[in-house]
Amino acid sequence: MTTARENEILTRVGPGTPMGALMRQYWVPVARSQEVKPAGDPLRVMALGEPLIAFRNSQGRLGVLEHRCAHRNASLFFGHNEEDGMRCIYHGWKFGPDGKCLDMPNVPRHQDAKHKVKLTAYQVTERYGIIWLYMGERAVPPPFPDFELNDLSPDEITVQMIQQEYNWLQGLENDLDTSHFGFLHLGGVDPAELNPGETVYYLANDRAPQFHLEDTPLGLMYGAYRPADEGNTHWRLAQLIVPFWVIPPAAMLADQIMIKGYIPMDDTHTMVITIQRKGVVTPSTTREGKPIPGLGASFAPRNEFRPNTTDWFGRWRLPNCAENDWLIDREAQRNGSVFSGITGLNVQDNAMGGMLGTISDRTREHLTASDVMIVRARRKFLQLVETLAADKSAKLPGVDDPAIYRGHRAGNFVAPAGKPFREAYEEMMQKHANTAVRWVAA
Ligand code: FES
Ligand SMILES: [Fe+2]
Repeated sequence: MTTARENEILTRVGPGTPMGALMRQYWVPVARSQEVKPAGDPLRVMALGEPLIAFRNSQGRLGVLEHRCAHRNASLFFGHNEEDGMRCIYHGWKFGPDGKCLDMPNVPRHQDAKHKVKLTAYQVTERYGIIWLYMGERAVPPPFPDFELNDLSPDEITVQMIQQEYNWLQGLENDLDTSHFGFLHLGGVDPAELNPGETVYYLANDRAPQFHLEDTPLGLMYGAYRPADEGNTHWRLAQLIVPFWVIPPAAMLADQIMIKGYIPMDDTHTMVITIQRKGVVTPSTTREGKPIPGLGASFAPRNEFRPNTTDWFGRWRLPNCAENDWLIDREAQRNGSVFSGITGLNVQDNAMGGMLGTISDRTREHLTASDVMIVRARRKFLQLVETLAADKSAKLPGVDDPAIYRGHRAGNFVAPAGKPFREAYEEMMQKHANTAVRWVAA
């Protein structure tokens, strides 16, 4: 059981919190590069409970600063984006992308103290068209992870962002919760209508998979297994990569290269950032080639958004939200065509996380065998938090070992029944990712 104290530790991410401290050891993606244009308007960015301003000066240099001016707390969101920095509209102080005060024009020259003033500015990098921050204490940030995505060219990668109006852990746990697939997504589907041999068929045919769990160098993985065709087992693998990543089984392991981050904006808002190889989808059509009601013809996400606003929480919002009951279609639910009554794979997932409440009260859950990955993930987070609290320079998974990110993939595959999990996974990884797998547990 998760206690109230554990739930508090797992869900709070602001400065000074244990989970927030863990996350600040890693690179944190916060926005798309295209959201911050040279000499353009500054962007409000909320990350790990910290309100920040991202801007690119007209020289193209990117800065991410605390949003309040060091003088008398005016918001630099309203500032002038000048050639070399952001100028506050209250008394004209100017700050460079590194946070240094460059100009203090409202005081006589002989009383100018600009060299003593500096705003918090985070170190930045840009990868895959995304802006990443290092929000930790090191003067030199850790190396950027060697995700398998690094083998792909920019035009082979696609990025999606979705804001959730609830705590980060709910969406992440949803991706570790594979047994919901047969209900939330496929509850209205008769396997007899599907093509035997396709992932969707196996998922609908056996809605109560068994699990194999492994600790990994970066977190945890599960292999959910169920019978496939004669003599074979269908494996559905997902990875937890600390501190806020998953690799969900979105497609076949042979094809998919993906990471998906549940990046806490604050304790009650999350930016879900999915970075993946373009064009890899799982078909979800019936034998007759018709799209599965509620899912469409593939597991590809629905990408309709409410218009972005300049609000702290105004970006990349799906139309379905708590205020409109997630646009549930009661008729589709009643007539059985869409079990959940909600249309779109990612929309369904997004809705479920939100239905748990803004911060789910985990003390009242009744977890079962199907929740073993979630239980182990919470334990893993709590252990890491404790390790870091005991020793600020403790070695944490992946922080100083970028190469270890290789060897972690997820997805679906079929292997001969009786082949041990590790062997089956190692073979797949050798064949498709050209990588040896490092195991951590005996
Ligand atoms: S508050 Fe920004 S210059 Fe005074
Ligand atoms: Fe789902």
